[in-house]
Amino acid sequence: MKDTTAPARVSRAVSTLTDDQALELISQARQHLAAIQDVQSATLGVRKTSALQSLVRAAGASRATVNEASLIHIEYERRAGEILLELKQAGEYGPGRKQHTECHLPAHQVTHRWQDMARVPEEEVEAYVAKKRASESGEITSAELQRMGARIRRQEEEARRMAESRAVEAKPTVELSDCIPWLERQDPCGLLLTDPPYATDVEDISAFAESWLPLALSKVRPTGRAYVFVGAYPGELHAYLGVLLRHGWESQVLAWYYPDTLGPNPAKAYKSVWQAILYTWGPEAPPLIGETLTEKTTVQRFNMNSGIEHGRQHQWQKPDGLAERIVRLSSEPGDLVLDPFSGTGTFLLQASKLGRVARGCEADPEMLEIAVRRGCLHE
Ligand SMILES: C[S@@+](CC[C@H](N)C(=O)[O-])C[C@H]1O[C@@H](n2cnc3c(N)ncnc32)[C@H](O)[C@@H]1O
Repeated sequence: MKDTTAPARVSRAVSTLTDDQALELISQARQHLAAIQDVQSATLGVRKTSALQSLVRAAGASRATVNEASLIHIEYERRAGEILLELKQAGEYGPGRKQHTECHLPAHQVTHRWQDMARVPEEEVEAYVAKKRASESGEITSAELQRMGARIRRQEEEARRMAESRAVEAKPTVELSDCIPWLERQDPCGLLLTDPPYATDVEDISAFAESWLPLALSKVRPTGRAYVFVGAYPGELHAYLGVLLRHGWESQVLAWYYPDTLGPNPAKAYKSVWQAILYTWGPEAPPLIGETLTEKTTVQRFNMNSGIEHGRQHQWQKPDGLAERIVRLSSEPGDLVLDPFSGTGTFLLQASKLGRVARGCEADPEMLEIAVRRGCLHE
């Protein structure tokens, strides 16, 4: 008696499937593909063509027919990938938006593969297929196309990173604002690098330090760092060190030494040729970057560059070289660098030159004007 169970029927269908019938099924699938516009239909097509591929192989079809079955399967995968990329671009799919489960899609890894395959331009797919058809043992596979697509994705990502860092280079931004409301609005940063007004310019330095520093440090990522320039006045050092110690931040006192300073010598006191830089880092901060040990010492010698011949535009302006070194040793390209007391924009300009995203604020419109003249963008 004839076995009518499903596996037996499938087995009979497989054993009687000719190459011509297989090619006819593939042709029907190709016609259907042209009409596919949504990800669910494309996904269903991927499943059906996968089954067709297995059927053709099991029927012992010729290599050419097996290759045609693989190709139609790849075309469905590419269509599904194309639709997903379009949805992503439109902001309708991706992290935080529609997830795989909502779209009834297979695991992320699989759809990621489809998206990579969709990145390969049509001409390159045609060239690949032609090469395989021409070779007697050539087998068309999804895996090879995915590798080609992954390479294109990596190139695109690299080009985007380069474009972003070029855009960043051109535009450090400064806002005209008091530091408190500005800091409240900032995203977590990789580096806080700032130079607040000195004790000589604020009424109560302790209250001032307590008003902004804890807020600013709360914006530093656990992997980040902060540098605060502080005048070498006992009251100012006491105020800022007090805040750091009270809030339990691990820290170190660095000295910026500037032997070229001009001006009268005080009678009883020593002539001041240094400023403190309070340095602190998050609990997950990686080691300082860079091989040159001489750069990573607690005393940093950089001349003040006084005099118009060095392009100095304001007495508060810090040396570019010092800012450049701190940014380079302490952050990576693409990191967000914040300066709530931007002044003439020295720190932001150097951060931006090194490909960091640099944002700052400044309360004095005249200082901001200098920063803009030096290349910052008034936000
Ligand atoms: C020492 S200077 C910074 C100099 C800067 N590092 C440079 O290289 O040009 C301090 C700056 O903080 C600004 N400032 C003072 N109080 C501020 C506040 N509450 N919010 C924002 N900026 C303030 C001052 O106008 C001044 O430009």
